[in-house]
Amino acid sequence: TNSKTWSQRFEKSLHPAIAEFNASISFDIQLIEYDLTGSVAHAKMLAKTGIISHDEAEKMVSGLEQIRQEYREGNFNPGVDAEDIHFAVERRLTELVGDVGKKLHTARSRNDQVGTDTRLYLRDQIQQIRQQLVDFQTVLLDLAETNVETLIPGYTHLQRAQPISLAHHLLAYTEMLNRDWERLGDVYKRVDICPLGSGALAGTTFPIDRHYSAELLGFGRVYANSLDGVSDRDWAIEFLSAASLIMVHLSRLAEEITLWASQEFSFVTLTDSCSTGSSIMPQKKNPDIPELVRGKTGRVFGHLQGLLVVMKGLPLAYNKDLQEDKEALFDAVKTVKGSLECMTILIAEGIEFRSSRLAEAVAEDFSNATDVADYLAARGIPFREAYGLVGKVVRTCLEAGKLLKDLTLEEWQQLHPKFEADIYAAIAPRQVVSARNSYGGTGFDQVKQALQNARQRLNNC
Ligand code: ARG
Repeated sequence: TNSKTWSQRFEKSLHPAIAEFNASISFDIQLIEYDLTGSVAHAKMLAKTGIISHDEAEKMVSGLEQIRQEYREGNFNPGVDAEDIHFAVERRLTELVGDVGKKLHTARSRNDQVGTDTRLYLRDQIQQIRQQLVDFQTVLLDLAETNVETLIPGYTHLQRAQPISLAHHLLAYTEMLNRDWERLGDVYKRVDICPLGSGALAGTTFPIDRHYSAELLGFGRVYANSLDGVSDRDWAIEFLSAASLIMVHLSRLAEEITLWASQEFSFVTLTDSCSTGSSIMPQKKNPDIPELVRGKTGRVFGHLQGLLVVMKGLPLAYNKDLQEDKEALFDAVKTVKGSLECMTILIAEGIEFRSSRLAEAVAEDFSNATDVADYLAARGIPFREAYGLVGKVVRTCLEAGKLLKDLTLEEWQQLHPKFEADIYAAIAPRQVVSARNSYGGTGFDQVKQALQNARQRLNNC
């Protein structure tokens, strides 16, 4: 026999493979608490507007809360026959409270119901992810604060360019993460619109109060158009887009950590609690965690692309294609949260910078060449001319196997009479960094100010 809610319309029961394919219960069970909360609000609204009695609403609410209890205790495990979380809850409610449970779906459709559930879910998740972004920025700031004067090569084209403060490098990431935090706050505004009361697509014949149920659920706004209410997934796509950018940022840092941990760079060592070994090469310590974060980034990009494609050809209003939004959201949320958590641990306790190696790296190259050109330019030589001259010096040094600091004062003065004994101080790594004191630059005074600003900003998050 056919046990489906809609089975009276049908003569034969569903083919088992079709039932399995159609069902979303295996994943939308994650929405259960939001489904219950949404139904409680709907029941209260039905009573307030006189569509059902207060007594009926009370019975519904206590039944719904009982299901919540059962679920939390591990005693509510609906199977494929329930089809989805909405049917599963309604069926159990009717078992618990009798016929009054059958009135819960008055003036409602699963279409506005599922839209309400997923938005309630995502509102919660966005708040949790924003908190994780704050936590991650906090450990980056802690690390930056102790490394203002630690120097590290700065790169363009992955070629040594100019030395920088390690704190400055880390603070670049807190800037990105702060934008991610802001962006999610902006996405939240468009997740925070209530579709409940849109019905299947056209509204309802009952005198409902959509603003009341939305208010009970803490929504900032309600959808102004019922067709839009049940078929809009812009908010999910916006979230996946913001999530993708978070992953871009995590992945870039993950890539840097992976490079830094290589023998070629040797800028960091990974601690035992955050790295893994090889099954065959006993000497190895692998950066699996940043590699996984880098790899998992692809999943989130995929979900963004996937949902964009799901949406592009859908006629109004609800289509079952929309059921595909959930796994994309759930997996993206899980991936972003897991990646943020592990990157936070990695920064807090997983990497140790090798200061002697870093000091050696910034001293043993030509990344102070710009400063030689700046030295002359500050003494009236047109920059382009100074630049050409220093290019020649670098070439001569390379041929002689020397660094700029190895040139004698005589050699400097042969190059240009404006060079004086203070050239040595001007091209020492610490001075080179300290001198870049323009707003937003790596000069120590700038970095200290940036640290202070970032700390203050975090305290206001
Ligand atoms: N499980 C469905 C979904 O996730 C619920 C809405 C179903 N509505 C319908 N008319 N079939 O989208």
